[in-house]
Amino acid sequence: MVRIAILADPHFHDVDFDPVGEGGGAHALRTLFDTTESTRIFNESGPAFRAALDDVVSRGISLVVIAGDLTDDGQVFNWRAVNALLDEYRAKGLRFFATPGNHDLFAMGGRHHDKRFLLADGSNRLVSSNPASGADVISAEMYCPGYPDVMPMMADLGYVPGPDDLNWETPFGTNPDWATRSYQVRSPDGGTIETMLDASYLVEPIEGLWLLSLDANVYRPNNRADVEAGAPAFRDCTDVGWNAVLTDKPHLLTWAADVAQRARHLGKRLIAFSHYPVVDPLNGSGEDERRLLGDTGFVRRMPEPAVASALAAAGVEVHFSGHWHINNTASYHGAAGSIVNVAVPSLVAYPPGYKLVDIEPEGLRIETVSVRQARGYDVAFAGYAAEARRDGLAADALVHAASHGAFIDAHLHALVRYRYLPKEWPTDLARLVPLLSLDAVAQLADAEPINSTALNPLPLAGEPSLFDLVVDWYALRKGADLAKSAIPAERMAHYRSLIGSYGKREWPEGSLQRQLALLLSIMGRYLQREPSLWFHIAQPGGVVSLSAAAPISARRELAET
Ligand SMILES: [Fe+2]
Ligand SMILES: [Fe+2]
Repeated sequence: MVRIAILADPHFHDVDFDPVGEGGGAHALRTLFDTTESTRIFNESGPAFRAALDDVVSRGISLVVIAGDLTDDGQVFNWRAVNALLDEYRAKGLRFFATPGNHDLFAMGGRHHDKRFLLADGSNRLVSSNPASGADVISAEMYCPGYPDVMPMMADLGYVPGPDDLNWETPFGTNPDWATRSYQVRSPDGGTIETMLDASYLVEPIEGLWLLSLDANVYRPNNRADVEAGAPAFRDCTDVGWNAVLTDKPHLLTWAADVAQRARHLGKRLIAFSHYPVVDPLNGSGEDERRLLGDTGFVRRMPEPAVASALAAAGVEVHFSGHWHINNTASYHGAAGSIVNVAVPSLVAYPPGYKLVDIEPEGLRIETVSVRQARGYDVAFAGYAAEARRDGLAADALVHAASHGAFIDAHLHALVRYRYLPKEWPTDLARLVPLLSLDAVAQLADAEPINSTALNPLPLAGEPSLFDLVVDWYALRKGADLAKSAIPAERMAHYRSLIGSYGKREWPEGSLQRQLALLLSIMGRYLQREPSLWFHIAQPGGVVSLSAAAPISARRELAET
């Protein structure tokens, strides 16, 4: 049996970056304001990454896969710092294999970044790589380069063969020279054709294990007329994911099919990974989400069924993904074959964790490790407190968090309050969420349909409120069974009862009950997802089946002791 670790989205940010050479540390603390507006936390990324890697070392594992977004935003200073950190762990026996995420680089030429960094009095200054930005500080180190400059910094992450590798290749052959590793990508009107590097590789680091790293970043050029009118030269690949791979990088599918066929023939265990999921991680709830909330970030990023079908047809049976910062397992079974997508959580978003994979003759056994303890998780708390005092921010739950996990729990609450409800929810419903008690929600299931704008919520206020349910809704969406096990049984029973009562009848379009029914129906789908805490992927004769497995060990959470 071989055990490997699979991490995703560590988003390493070096808080000690010193843009003007002032000496000392912590010159690059991101603000609390930016943190609560973002789906991930920043300053805590170093402590969390170290905690996960320390745990990997303590388990005697040596092979570590990182499914993209290794750095915060691909800035030069972060590449330098994360490489120094990885070297520390290489000295402890770890070997890393990565795939590029959308935050690691940008197309061929890169792009500028600017961020606000905290000062001691709680104010902040804007630091940018763009000399024309008017920022307080200009630093070339803030720039996120493109493939040609980033790949040499990532070389030791599997992108070139190691001296002891038993097999190593790319879609273009066995030559690691980047001059041989490119393809052409076109603008929507076909008028602009650009040459783009492809960082995919296959490696056999130990006998019998083939790690297939698929570079699913697609940077499409914009039409020339749009660029002349001010559009950037390339489109961001954040939302398109694998849907664009099917059209713009078909060579990846052809190569994956060839690799999978050879793996079967030679008896190699094939584990594929890329930054983006290939199977719907939300159990078919996307359409209801579109009806309730419109075009949210998750809905925009949903892989089409054609993606899973194409990879299953290619013979890829297991794929690990990052990007969504969620914990989830989803399988696709179609005429072309079957594939399981394991969505690996981030270390800097709810739920913080990573995956252990036991490779056994009869299949894979997968455990999710929660990373809720991280030494130095409070590195930015004094800065946050100064900022909160200065700007009048409500930050008590955040700055008094007793652990990395508690900080992320508090961040999820803040995210729902300051980002999701005001920015993604219909205003009429968002107004009611903090007020309506769950008892009132239960009563409304037996009432006549009412329009949300016509409802006076004040007499219906109370605890627990619909806000508590919405926080748990997001926790379940992101955490699957990691969240399920964290929500008290009584509250879960209450939710199941509400799901049942709202599902009993059709509610008219435009009614509050229709919105609540959609919310609860989506929650029901989250609760029905496949196991992800411990499960087993059996592959007898190429047929993929999933089953809950006995835990590898009783230790699910990193103990602080
Ligand atoms: Fe990410
Ligand atoms: Fe990403």
